[in-house]
Amino acid sequence: MKALVLAGGSGTRLRPITHTQAKQLVPVANKPVLFYGLEAVAAAGVREVGMVVGDTQAEIEAAVGDGSRFGLEVTYLRQAAPLGLAHAVLIARDYLGEDDFVMYLGDNFIVGGINDIVETFRREGPAAQIMLTKVGDPRQFGVAELGPDGRVVGLEEKPREPKSDLALVGVYLFSPAVHAAVAELKPSWRGELEITDAIQGLLDTGRRVDSTIISGYWKDTGNVADMLEVNRLVLESVEPREDGRVDAHSEIIGRVAIEAGAVVERSRIVGPAVIGRDALIRDSYVGPFTSIADGCQVADSEIEYSIVLKGASIRGVGRIEASLIGRGAEVTPAPRVPRAHRLILGDESRVQISS
Ligand code: G1P
Repeated sequence: MKALVLAGGSGTRLRPITHTQAKQLVPVANKPVLFYGLEAVAAAGVREVGMVVGDTQAEIEAAVGDGSRFGLEVTYLRQAAPLGLAHAVLIARDYLGEDDFVMYLGDNFIVGGINDIVETFRREGPAAQIMLTKVGDPRQFGVAELGPDGRVVGLEEKPREPKSDLALVGVYLFSPAVHAAVAELKPSWRGELEITDAIQGLLDTGRRVDSTIISGYWKDTGNVADMLEVNRLVLESVEPREDGRVDAHSEIIGRVAIEAGAVVERSRIVGPAVIGRDALIRDSYVGPFTSIADGCQVADSEIEYSIVLKGASIRGVGRIEASLIGRGAEVTPAPRVPRAHRLILGDESRVQISS
């Protein structure tokens, strides 16, 4: 079995973070979402990975390399334009050959990995196996309709009137039968070759499509609240470590991972939390469910239930909660007079100001 990992696309939903970063590299507990996927693929016993990349190829390659660090052999497959998930299968046709494969969307996060579903697929041998999960707003996903026996009877991509609340999760298992279904596809209303339509094609030609319902799923639906929640979930099981330097005036409580080179001075950190390499926490409080990435500075401030990306600095601003702070961002107090907000905001930024 091979894997096809999708790491293209532009990530419009997590703006502004994904204006400057591939969405698959957005970190959860200081580790790119994509890495959890690659680890899950490796844990399921798959070695050969075709990584479909687009405009952010250089960034993805710099992060993943040849895959050896994950025990994988990664081959990069360039997709000229984001023309859909089934288009990715199309361009990977030669790479995939006559092998079964697991297709994994690099911006999806699945708690508990994929070992079970891969094993079930191998045992049962359907043409395709999909994963489903209950979601609040199915209109943002591919949606499955199940028959009374639990078999998949129909699929629809981003339906206006969903027939169920079961969304397709971004992990699919395919036999080579999918290639014939992909070859028949026409672009959808959004101009993409939809994998959902290819699976419907398998159903239409009498092929067997199995499904498994899971819980513990996240993807970037644009919702920062969701991202904070998945960060919280992963931090719950962080391994406490103290590889950095914590001075005698600081207090570390609960599950806290402090990476090498990090410095904590006169501060209190209440886990679960991670403090990245070379980060500096001074005269501050870091509360539960907070990820502070490499090279950040937090001084004279309090932060809780938040994600702070690489190299950001937060100084002298009192308390921050439920926030997502981008790479290299600076958060500092406004000068007292004149009393006005001075803003330089990127397109589609979201800012909350108390008046
Ligand atoms: C894609 C699929 C959709 C699936 C989703 C899961 O959506 O088309 O069926 O539910 O991935 O992440 P997209 O990310 O292209 O909107």
